Amino acid sequence: MINNKAFTPFQLKNFQLRNRLGVAPMTRMSSIRDSIPRQDVLDFLVSRALNGAAIVYTEAIVTDYESAQGYPGQARLTTQRQINSWRTVNEAIHAAGALSIMQMFHCGRLAWPEINPAARSLAPSALPIKQQNPLTSQPYPLADEMSVFDIHHVINGFVETARGAVAAGFDGIEIHGAHGYLISQFLSAYSNQRNDEYGGTPQKRYRFAQEIIAAVRAVVPQDQLLFFRISDWGVVDMEVSLFNSRDEYQTIIRLLSEEPIDAISVSTYDYKLPAFGTDKNMAQLTREVSRLPIIICGRIYDRTSAEEALLDADIALSAKSTLLNPDWFEDVRTGKEMTAYTSEEANIAYTETPLP
Ligand SMILES: Cc1cc2nc3c(=O)[nH]c(=O)nc-3n(C[C@H](O)[C@H](O)[C@H](O)COP(=O)(O)O)c2cc1C
Repeated sequence: MINNKAFTPFQLKNFQLRNRLGVAPMTRMSSIRDSIPRQDVLDFLVSRALNGAAIVYTEAIVTDYESAQGYPGQARLTTQRQINSWRTVNEAIHAAGALSIMQMFHCGRLAWPEINPAARSLAPSALPIKQQNPLTSQPYPLADEMSVFDIHHVINGFVETARGAVAAGFDGIEIHGAHGYLISQFLSAYSNQRNDEYGGTPQKRYRFAQEIIAAVRAVVPQDQLLFFRISDWGVVDMEVSLFNSRDEYQTIIRLLSEEPIDAISVSTYDYKLPAFGTDKNMAQLTREVSRLPIIICGRIYDRTSAEEALLDADIALSAKSTLLNPDWFEDVRTGKEMTAYTSEEANIAYTETPLP
């Protein structure tokens, strides 16, 4: 074995993780009533904690009511009823020995106008979207360029949702800055063409993320966790999600490393792929410039890939394998031979068909 780390404990601030493996955030689009996920979707999270996960993420929870939602049936966390249902899930995850993390996001230019009450979408710049909405096969509407007023309102949506997560007893929160959604749209020189203090240099494009982190940290108790997810890949018009160079990526990582966050969560398509024309993968390029704990995700599907990914990271998450194999954590522990699942197989996530 190249490494033997997956089943060693990890001290993350004041939390001790029993191993280095977790369930990645997965949107399920099941929250039809009260913006609360279907019971089997909530049960899924608890079952993976019972199977041995050290850390379990929610799906991406939508921040504000006006413009944040990108897919039908997404969950929210700003009413007492929503808080109560997540509190029950958190208690069960904790009883099973795992940590629970709430991920939250705003879709920006990829918002779904029929669902957002204001029927409009917001983005750093008003630029047409080349690809169609994959769910409707319709073009995305042109977003409004966010004013500074809009920016403050949207930040407040992150804060409100973070308050909901604290009330619901999560151990931590992840700000979703990856995959081409709003924060990623601000980071990107392709989708952020602003001339004000939120656009231009990488430092200025980073300002929106920085303000969200500061505002959210202020309402998350110091002994609870705050993570930031970043990626060099994503959904719809891939240019949005791609950093221009290693230098640009590492500039953002250096800035993030100065923030009051507890880990950087690096989402990849495949953890082992070299990035930016170097011979290093994303975790290695992150580690080069940051001392923060690193969470890695992307095509980690068996013990060998988990151990290899953990050479350069502290925690490894899996999405599709944890979705489709109820025994995945135990199977990794015993070193069972497994193959990676395809995205098509994972589409069951968005249906009412029971998971295997
Ligand atoms: C059904 C499904 C839903 C997803 N939803 C989210 C999400 O809400 N937030 C997020 O950051 N990533 C989301 N992802 C991406 C995963 O967290 C992960 O980064 C990606 O699937 C690669 O990991 P894997 O190779 O283990 O599947 C989703 C992936 C799948 C398959």
